[in-house]
Amino acid sequence: MTKRPRVFSGIQPSGTLHIGNYLGALHNWVIDQDKYDNFFCIVDLHAITVPQDPAQLRAKVRELAALYLACGISLEKSTVFVQSHVSAHAELGWVLNCQTPIGWLNRMTQFKDKSAKQETVLAGLMNYPTLMAADILLYAAEYVPVGEDQKQHIELTRDVAERFNHLYGETFVIPKPLIREVAARIMGLDEPTAKMSKSTTALGHAIPLLGDPKATRKAIMRAVTDSGAEITFDRERPGVHNLLNIYQKLAGGTQAEIEAHFAGQGYGTLKREVADVVLATLEPIQTRYNELTADAGELDAILARGAERASEVANATLLRAYQRVGLR
Ligand code: AMP
Ligand code: TRP
Repeated sequence: MTKRPRVFSGIQPSGTLHIGNYLGALHNWVIDQDKYDNFFCIVDLHAITVPQDPAQLRAKVRELAALYLACGISLEKSTVFVQSHVSAHAELGWVLNCQTPIGWLNRMTQFKDKSAKQETVLAGLMNYPTLMAADILLYAAEYVPVGEDQKQHIELTRDVAERFNHLYGETFVIPKPLIREVAARIMGLDEPTAKMSKSTTALGHAIPLLGDPKATRKAIMRAVTDSGAEITFDRERPGVHNLLNIYQKLAGGTQAEIEAHFAGQGYGTLKREVADVVLATLEPIQTRYNELTADAGELDAILARGAERASEVANATLLRAYQRVGLR
């Protein structure tokens, strides 16, 4: 059997996971699970780059772990673990900080966006991408499945790895982003020109994965649409485009087939059918999630096993990197 290529990805245990996280990340991980040797991480060290409530953070880590599994990540095909349980992430992150020009970090658009929203910008927020580079490089991941917004961080990871390899000799595998075109970016229901975001708590903005079905249907029925009546994948009409995009990713079919399906129908029908496929998708996820969270001990045991497997791989890479720069 040929070795499957290695994949690494992670999500922060903060905010409320939504259909954009599912379609842009989790669902893609699940679809491709058989093709790769997967490491899926709950990146709690990244979460603390902005202030977090400790008790809430601890709960969110468990919630996210259970959601990974509820969305279909299989422990036979993938290693699921928490970033802070594997100390190599923080350690390699430090080494890479010491190899990364500040200018590279200053250019990151996510840093600019996030720091503009903070009263006090913490050094960790700026160094966020070098920790992300450590995550990926520790596992020699060839592919990193993410949403489009993370592309710049993967490019930085490549630059940092290439710089290191050039200065110290071949050490790291250079990773590639894996970005799906369809639904790479799901927009807010209330504002279809802004990305659906985990940290926006406004009612009617997101479709939360663990949301109450009635509230979810209501939010979709109230989604902002555009003037006009045609139901087409026209980018000029972002509200309808976003709903069609969600529909396509969940129900399948080509753009032409979907446009034909909705021909002559009104926005009310479109929204009702979007709500139907969304709720049909979320129902089994929520059921499985409730089963998994009913037994905290079992979930903790799963995460402990994951950390053990991850540490074996990560510690070997860390040692090599330490030795390259003259440590250990
Ligand atoms: P975040 O919510 O920013 O922590 O992102 C977690 C994962 O979900 C990343 O891989 C993102 O690229 C992806 N993601 C977040 N928001 C969206 C969105 N609105 N549409 C598509 N993918 C998203
Ligand atoms: N920065 C990513 C996000 O906000 C999360 C993340 C951290 C990540 N480390 C990673 C994603 C490594 C992919 C690979 O979505």
